[in-house]
Amino acid sequence: MRKKIVAGNWKMNVGLMEGMALADSINKSLIEKPYDEITVVLCAPFTHLTSLYEILKNGKISVGAQNCASEPSGAFTGEVSASMVKSTGAKYVIIGHSERRAHHREYNSLLNEKVFLALESGLKVIFCCGEILTERAENRYFEVLRRQVERGLFNLTKKQISNIIIAYEPVWAIGSDLSATSGQVQEIHAFIRELITEKYGVETGNNISILYGGSCNPSNAVKIFSKPDVDGGLVGRASLKAEDFIGIIEAV
Ligand code: PGA
Repeated sequence: MRKKIVAGNWKMNVGLMEGMALADSINKSLIEKPYDEITVVLCAPFTHLTSLYEILKNGKISVGAQNCASEPSGAFTGEVSASMVKSTGAKYVIIGHSERRAHHREYNSLLNEKVFLALESGLKVIFCCGEILTERAENRYFEVLRRQVERGLFNLTKKQISNIIIAYEPVWAIGSDLSATSGQVQEIHAFIRELITEKYGVETGNNISILYGGSCNPSNAVKIFSKPDVDGGLVGRASLKAEDFIGIIEAV
């Protein structure tokens, strides 16, 4: 049985104190409500991970980072390695977010190195993929997604892929007023699941969780999450308000 997962991605928002207050309030709401079958993760800036872990360690929410270095250690000023992320108590790391692909020129082979290091360090990876608007308009999105998934993941073993969660995040829907329709999301999620099934077999294909991200909110979440290949969400803006984030968990 694959897991339902809702992960918040705070991006470069909220200072330490504000972030801890937000996490505390989400945590308290979840302790009161019986959503034990849903995995909830908060992906915060590196500077917040240790404190976040301290606040959340006795609750139901796991901690995640939003990136890690593509080298294991050494003279890489300003970088944070996967094993450092793990040492904070974090269990997850987002790799391949479109903002990193675009603003930091993170290409598929570099992301693949990060994926390996994260898995070696014992982290679970939320691996993002998604097309930009022109790729959708020109009907090239299947090809783009296939390339991202194959180059990012397909040299992993079957055991390693069991620690991967895929997030489909159409770039045109992130941070905008647009969200993909539930039909578009289902089409892509089924396609990604098929790619995994072809490569790793039916059991792995059935077990991998595929999340949707891109303007998820409590009102569109019910429809999107009702689709059979959608196993939860990677949530940006709506994870910055406890009420909205809880609303999305409720929708799942
Ligand atoms: P958004 O961001 O929910 O604000 O669109 C999603 C993401 O980038 O993960």
